[in-house]
Amino acid sequence: MKLLLLSLFLLPLAAGQQPEPKPEPDYSDYSKRVAWDLHSLKRADQWNREMAALLEKKDTPEGLAELRLRFDGWAKAWGKVYPPMFRLQRSDRFILWLDRLKQVVSENLADFSYWSEMNFYADRTYAEFDEEFDGGFNPEPDAMVLAAAATGRTTPVNVASLKLGRLPRKVDWVAAGKVPAVRRQEELDCWAHAAAVVIESAWAIRNNKKASTTVKAARVSVQQLTGSQRVVAKHPAPPCLADCTGPAASCAGTRSMKYAFDISYQMGSVPERTYPYKDCAPQRCQRGLVSKVPSARRIRPPRAPGSRSIPASTNVTALIAAVARAPVAFAACASNEAFRDYAGGVLAAPKVCNCQLDHVMAIVGYNTKAPVPYWLVQNSRGPSWGAAGRIKIRMDGAGPGMCNMYLMPPEALL
Ligand SMILES: *[C@@H]1O[C@H](CO)[C@@H](O)[C@H](O)[C@H]1NC(C)=O
Repeated sequence: MKLLLLSLFLLPLAAGQQPEPKPEPDYSDYSKRVAWDLHSLKRADQWNREMAALLEKKDTPEGLAELRLRFDGWAKAWGKVYPPMFRLQRSDRFILWLDRLKQVVSENLADFSYWSEMNFYADRTYAEFDEEFDGGFNPEPDAMVLAAAATGRTTPVNVASLKLGRLPRKVDWVAAGKVPAVRRQEELDCWAHAAAVVIESAWAIRNNKKASTTVKAARVSVQQLTGSQRVVAKHPAPPCLADCTGPAASCAGTRSMKYAFDISYQMGSVPERTYPYKDCAPQRCQRGLVSKVPSARRIRPPRAPGSRSIPASTNVTALIAAVARAPVAFAACASNEAFRDYAGGVLAAPKVCNCQLDHVMAIVGYNTKAPVPYWLVQNSRGPSWGAAGRIKIRMDGAGPGMCNMYLMPPEALL
């Protein structure tokens, strides 16, 4: 309704009732993505103040026209096209974009430890975004109850109280070259993406190798790990275990990464190039593709089978110890605005980041010595989301953890 009203309001502009054609806008500031990249702008805050001032004037024709220019620049920078047949028209997208802008600017001007940006998703409805990315984790009912009970009760870890002993105070598996390149999920198979990070990293660490760092060369096939719901429905006895994991872990989500770890252990993971990611298209487990790679050259988790659960909600040191060994997969609440717009810094938004567990990612490092101690997390929303595809999440003490990330015990291989 709001959309409709605002669109009507914009109609005169769209219909070209401005008699004077505006001079060609100067896109030089906006045509590059970096102009929308707030990583370096947060401190200066110039952009945020400028946008806040513009938003104040959005009810005036000049203010609105200026904002439209900014929108055009943003759309250009992100390669957006709005074909006329699309469900939402360009003017609708502009309205959504204005809403995001307001939110992002107010988040950035508040004194948070993280900052937000107008990313690729800034013109989408929340439902559109959510549909694509969240919901790939279906928690056990127990975890839901825990989540409800835990509401708002997460606080920063007291590092001094942790018994770290000889554990490193800081680990960064990305910098060490042990983490594969950030991928982009196309279905609700975040769990398979996170599992692939964990499997490949564990292999690289154990064998003193570098992980694949470009998507093409990415070693572990996610498709092989992702069960196809539709095929499974047709074949009550799954034709094979992952394309291959079966109904418990499919492109519609899962409850545990152990299915992926098991499959990788049983068959051995083959490279993505051999067994490409197919957008979760219904297909049987392609044993033919798997057998192209000699068994000895497939990647297998060193431990078998299943995964090792880490009691992070009662023992944060146990999670630190696990990540010090190798990256770890975990479930979190990610369908919220803080997560959606995140651009950099350490995410700390206990109120908005307290939904149910709906997304799986991999912890690929931590830093207990940073001003705000954090977990370094690799997401599967592509490298243009967040900080080069990754996010730092505040390291909290025992309890549900930031974004409820300790609720389901994180799962490790090593
Ligand atoms: C917590 O985890 C650490 C590291 O694994 C372990 O040494 C310690 O005994 C655990 N503490 C408790 C109370 O279980």
